[in-house]
Amino acid sequence: MASVKNLTFKEVLELVRPDLLLVEEEFGVQTTTGVRPISEIGQYLQEGGGKRLRPALVLLAAKLCGYEGLAGIRMGAVVEMIHTATLVHDDVIDQADTRRGRPSPNSRWGNPMSVLAGDWLYMQAFNIALNERSFRILDVLIRLTQVMVEGELLQLTCLRRATVTEEEYLELAYRKTACLFSACMRLGALLGGKNEEEEGRLGLYGINLGLAFQLIDDVLDFTSSEEVLGKPIGNDVREGKMTLPLIYLLQRCSPEESRKVSRVLEEGGFDAAQFAEILELIDHYGALQSAREKAQDFSEKARGFLEEYPDSPYKDALHSLPDFILERES
Ligand code: IPE
Ligand code: IPE
Ligand code: MG
Ligand code: MG
Repeated sequence: MASVKNLTFKEVLELVRPDLLLVEEEFGVQTTTGVRPISEIGQYLQEGGGKRLRPALVLLAAKLCGYEGLAGIRMGAVVEMIHTATLVHDDVIDQADTRRGRPSPNSRWGNPMSVLAGDWLYMQAFNIALNERSFRILDVLIRLTQVMVEGELLQLTCLRRATVTEEEYLELAYRKTACLFSACMRLGALLGGKNEEEEGRLGLYGINLGLAFQLIDDVLDFTSSEEVLGKPIGNDVREGKMTLPLIYLLQRCSPEESRKVSRVLEEGGFDAAQFAEILELIDHYGALQSAREKAQDFSEKARGFLEEYPDSPYKDALHSLPDFILERES
């Protein structure tokens, strides 16, 4: 009879800490070039920290699949570089001033340099991956990058539109976030020499975990604070982004309230009073709670894809991760 242990976040980190330190080192080495702005921006981004959740996923998945070699470190750096590149571009697109509690690269170096640094980071990530001489790895990474870029494009077409549906929202969340979580798990399976079926199963764990992650991110945009989150709150509404709490709110509120919320979203930009009003409505109609419950559903679903694995600390870790994602504050 299989038994899964619930680990604390500290225990999960312990399992991958030495490898994550090597991922940091690899990231640093791989972003050091003779072209100064690239090295400067690369170093700035690395020092800014970040949760390093994606490399941790690659490492845990690889270990779950019995792989312990150095390619896990390299692939960990690859996914963090791709993630970083998307954030650099995303902050340009969203005109965001703050990332990870510091000025975003675009507000420090300007848009032109940030766009080019992001491009360079993507290419460097592919360079590292190319050295594995694996078409399956390249297949995962190239498809991923296209899906993410398409996601950012599609998101632009949804901005300032209060009629975005739950289905459209989930498609964007898949493209923006869940697809990368899935790729991390797939890479781990590939390193462990697993077949396509098992790669797909771990990929499904990643998708569901990633959807839960993005849903919680969108809840935190209403409930957290800039100090804790490292980026301003209320940003999604300000940018005209429909997220699940708002979608649920519009399904439940009165036509008059709905007109008001839609107008704030369509006009973008609001003052503190308007944000407080939206928060009050969201609270009154239980929209945040429903979004949290949806995230919980995805978390449970993620866990289901681990069932067939034999007991191991790595399985325990992946089993425990969804809880940390649901409870996270930053
Ligand atoms: C930010 O991801 C982008 C989203 C998917 C919401 P993280 O919250 O994992 O960012 P860092 O890497 O920890 O800064
Ligand atoms: C994050 O998108 C960027 C990607 C995952 C591609 P968002 O714009 O929603 O996230 P934040 O709020 O800037 O982190
Ligand atoms: Mg953004
Ligand atoms: Mg966001």
